[in-house]
Amino acid sequence: MNIVEDVKYVGVNDRKIDLFEGQYRVPNGMSYNSYVILDERTAVMDTVDAAFGEEWLGNIKSVLDGRKPDYLVVQHMEPDHSANILGFVKAYPDAKIVSTAKAFTMMKNFFGDDFADKQIVVGEGATLSLGRHTLNFVTAPMVHWPEVIFSYDSTDKILFSADAFGKFGAVDAEEPWDDEARRYYIGIVGKYGKQVQAVLKKAAALEIRIICPLHGPVLRENLGHYIGLYDTWSSYRPECDGVVIAYTSVYGNTKKAVNMLAEALRTAGCPSVVLHDLSRCDMSLAVADAFKYSKLVLATTTYNADVFPPMRDFILHLAERGFTGRTVGLIENGSWAPVAAKVMRQMLEGCKGISYTESTVTINSSINEKSESALVSLVSLCTELCQG
Ligand code: FEO
Repeated sequence: MNIVEDVKYVGVNDRKIDLFEGQYRVPNGMSYNSYVILDERTAVMDTVDAAFGEEWLGNIKSVLDGRKPDYLVVQHMEPDHSANILGFVKAYPDAKIVSTAKAFTMMKNFFGDDFADKQIVVGEGATLSLGRHTLNFVTAPMVHWPEVIFSYDSTDKILFSADAFGKFGAVDAEEPWDDEARRYYIGIVGKYGKQVQAVLKKAAALEIRIICPLHGPVLRENLGHYIGLYDTWSSYRPECDGVVIAYTSVYGNTKKAVNMLAEALRTAGCPSVVLHDLSRCDMSLAVADAFKYSKLVLATTTYNADVFPPMRDFILHLAERGFTGRTVGLIENGSWAPVAAKVMRQMLEGCKGISYTESTVTINSSINEKSESALVSLVSLCTELCQG
């Protein structure tokens, strides 16, 4: 695949992977992207996952057509991109490695070798001339590790953006970009919104025609859409108005309550109502949706004087990613001493800018036509969510 005439795609698709980073379901696989710039001097941009070294080296060989690479540019040291540095060095011992000082320290830790005789250390504002192309380096710490650096080809206006603008799914997966890019971003980089904002500001000064990320498709059109979503996600603004109801239910009684709430919200004209059964759903999708929409209802059972474990997990995922600026409603269930609402609120204490609804629903075992106070507070909760 040509990115432009003299910039080629040499990445690989992983269709066998079950869990990316050991925790994210990737039903449509994953891609590990790598690129070759053919010029007076040739550069390979990043390596790929350990399982694909042979295929990747074959792709490079085929594109180089008898030439040897002069440089390997290492933008990110997470092993899904760096695992084949040693293999590359063995295949091309004369090539230089271009990367940040932090990345060379990581190479020493990963491989026992920081390739001192091959190092070209680059940082913010450094450039590498390949002939017609010049790479301009832009540091991007914590997007997604501290050593990350982007490379901007000022000749063809290509931004090589490391993990940024990546998504789950093989490079040719036919699925909407937004949903799998959101799930990827919130899951993997979500904690580091401030750092993403900083790099977006630097990127705004560049004329960008093509974005080449390390995962997912090369982006060529409507770049404002993707950059706009990154701005929204990294500033923690909701993308749209709507209510996510995240719940657990052991015997179906809490589920009955959330279904009643969902129905009432829809009847009242709420634009989007999304339910996630946290014991069964893809947790990363529920977390991404909590960041996508403006309002969140948490509904769970009191369990060991705490909350049901999947709800605990869910709230921890939100809190560690800096969940903020949303309206939250609480529904608790308990047969003798309901404390779940109090525990959930305590767990969210570190999250700034959360507005709680005045109504909290307490269910004593089950909800039925005789559960007067629970029904009244459920109706109030629905009204507040529609008004807020
Ligand atoms: Fe795709 Fe942070 O590695």
